[in-house]
Amino acid sequence: MAVDPLIELRDVNKYYGELHVLQDIDLTVGKGEVVVVIGPSGSGKSTLCRTINRLETIESGTIRLDGQPLPEEGKALARLRAEVGMVFQSFNLFAHKTVLQNVSLAQIKVRRRKREDADRRSRELLDRVGLLNQAAKYPAQLSGGQQQRVAIARALAMEPKALLFDEPTSALDPEMINEVLEVMRQLARDGMTMVVVTHEMGFARSAANRVVFMADGRIVEDRSPEEFFTNPRSERAKDFLSKILKH
Ligand SMILES: Nc1ncnc2c1ncn2[C@@H]1O[C@H](COP(=O)(O)OP(=O)(O)O)[C@@H](O)[C@H]1O
Ligand SMILES: [Mg+2]
Repeated sequence: MAVDPLIELRDVNKYYGELHVLQDIDLTVGKGEVVVVIGPSGSGKSTLCRTINRLETIESGTIRLDGQPLPEEGKALARLRAEVGMVFQSFNLFAHKTVLQNVSLAQIKVRRRKREDADRRSRELLDRVGLLNQAAKYPAQLSGGQQQRVAIARALAMEPKALLFDEPTSALDPEMINEVLEVMRQLARDGMTMVVVTHEMGFARSAANRVVFMADGRIVEDRSPEEFFTNPRSERAKDFLSKILKH
């Protein structure tokens, strides 16, 4: 089935000094697709995410969002950041603001919503991630899993076209991983376009439309989860899978 592309990278190259961190990257993410990115540490997964919402610039190639090239600066760039939400390993919540304020803040500052409208929307989203009863608390009063769900609600509050997740469960205690993955699975079922860097292979198998395997700054495989997990083509992927599936 051909899907309408939402995120398109063509021939993207990026360097950090001498290091060719992204090499000839071609990647298309269709509307409503969930693409899981996996690969060894240092292979360029975080950099890939960061280029998609232009936290990093690129040396050559093109990146389009919904048919438009990524803006260089100014208001258009701020709009892009709102349209491509990002959820990090570290939750990056404001410690001195309540959960509700954390979710409302950018709606008021960037989306220019009135506080009461923002707060109403925030409550809906907190309900969706199962945290409505925590709205008045401060981040430090929540578990890691709860804080990450607040971060997801905050990203959703901007009504993004796509969400990027960079190892969203890597900093969590094991018993909290599932509550975050379950929220992500629900988003996927609701049709959110998602790029997810994760080592959670269960999530990749159950929620991803495609698995992208990166090594040394290149996309080495880009296939369905079934194909990738049952029959990886490259030695790099075979080696990687044998290491992570063993423990
Ligand atoms: N800001 C930076 N400056 C220089 N090198 C960087 C920077 N960020 C990442 N790198 C390097 O780029 C490579 C890819 O990093 P990263 O995208 O974080 O990989 P991954 O997320 O797959 O672990 C690594 O070798 C890393 O050390
Ligand atoms: Mg990373």
